[in-house]
Amino acid sequence: MNTTPRVSVQDLHRAAAEVLRLNDLGTMTTAAPNLYPHMWSWDAAFVAIGLARINVPRAITELRTLLAAQWSTGMIPHIVFSENSTDYFPGFDRWGTESARARPSGIKSSGICQPPVHAIALRQILDRGRANGGADQEAAETFLAESFDGWLAWHRWLATVRDPDAAGLIEIHHGWESGFDNSPRWDGPYARVQAGTVPAFTRRDTLHVADTGERPDDSEYTKYLWLVQQMASVEYDDEAVRNVVDFRVRDVFFSAIMAAASDVLAALGEEIGRSSDAGELRDFARRFRDGVASTIDPLSGLARDYDILAGEWISTDTVSGFAPLVSGGGESLLAAQRKLLLGPDWMGHPGLRFPLPPSTSPSSAAFRPRTYWRGPVWPFLNLLLGWASQRDGQNEIYQALKAASLDQLADLRFGEYYEPFTGEPLGSLNQAWTAAACLEWIGPDWQVRTA
Ligand code: SER
Repeated sequence: MNTTPRVSVQDLHRAAAEVLRLNDLGTMTTAAPNLYPHMWSWDAAFVAIGLARINVPRAITELRTLLAAQWSTGMIPHIVFSENSTDYFPGFDRWGTESARARPSGIKSSGICQPPVHAIALRQILDRGRANGGADQEAAETFLAESFDGWLAWHRWLATVRDPDAAGLIEIHHGWESGFDNSPRWDGPYARVQAGTVPAFTRRDTLHVADTGERPDDSEYTKYLWLVQQMASVEYDDEAVRNVVDFRVRDVFFSAIMAAASDVLAALGEEIGRSSDAGELRDFARRFRDGVASTIDPLSGLARDYDILAGEWISTDTVSGFAPLVSGGGESLLAAQRKLLLGPDWMGHPGLRFPLPPSTSPSSAAFRPRTYWRGPVWPFLNLLLGWASQRDGQNEIYQALKAASLDQLADLRFGEYYEPFTGEPLGSLNQAWTAAACLEWIGPDWQVRTA
């Protein structure tokens, strides 16, 4: 392991903060300067975590902007479009959300969602605000009181609309909802999607990466657009979507985040006297934690997704298999998962540049080290695993993830994802949530000067 930082923690902190400034449009932070010129839902939550380390009111603004885009159903859309950029495909026009009744008027968004990490960001904002005291504390506490109902509605929508049978697993309708867009997790479900006619399209994403092989290919995009079209054809009505869409999968990692974030939101609710809502959130947490535990593959020990339309489990060697480490769970399950994570197929793989979990195991036939979710290492995900380790008192894993992450990010490029064997940054540079993760890993350490 490379433990020698190539830059000082002060320089690292300065550079990460600069990336967030670079992406700042005032009331929203673009996920990346060129490739993603809008706000993404789960990116915004991580961005808020990073911002809370440098500017609590600005972190609040980030979440407030996202929440303003919440649909009347409770759904928080995965993209909130910025006004001035047309340099992204599919843009607002292609989403067909113009006629969706639940979309708040005047705010342009997509019609699908992403994992609910937001309550975790809200907790961080509150903790930072309280640590700073004064106006920051007041702003954070006011924001908690003002926004609690919005987050609660979001969790309720997920628990009812996306888990109607109370399986403890969230159903998704597009790979984009998972955030793991083209992971091998979705190869089976996408193989069964027979795309109908999709109007011609010109992609923009491939213009912003060094090599198009770092992105999903055109046949994958055709299916992505087909699913969007299917959902738009019923104006994103929750019931109707379930009946028309060709992609219905229970996403174990999304569900794990739902469990973890429901517990966090419950604790926040308890603090402001919302004990009955907190009880409901604790029930969600239990239900989704149990749901995640129910998916374990007895052969690999990894958690699995479930393809509803095919009626089958999806077993892959992807990092989502560690969903129980995020949701929390029984001690024997978690101990077995930690052993796997530190083992030779994951963080302990001898070829890794930094001992961090690749999105797909290098031991898997599906592994492709440069292609998006098929192999590269994603820094924001390591922060999430670190957060969960700390919650569970697993300091050794937390410190291992922290040290390796800071080594990885010391190249000051803030890549969207990294080639696991070379440490080369891939996708977009100056990715906002990568910089945010860096700020959160650093925490208050940048103020400690060593000789
Ligand atoms: N992640 C998708 C993209 O690459 C959108 O959600 O554009």
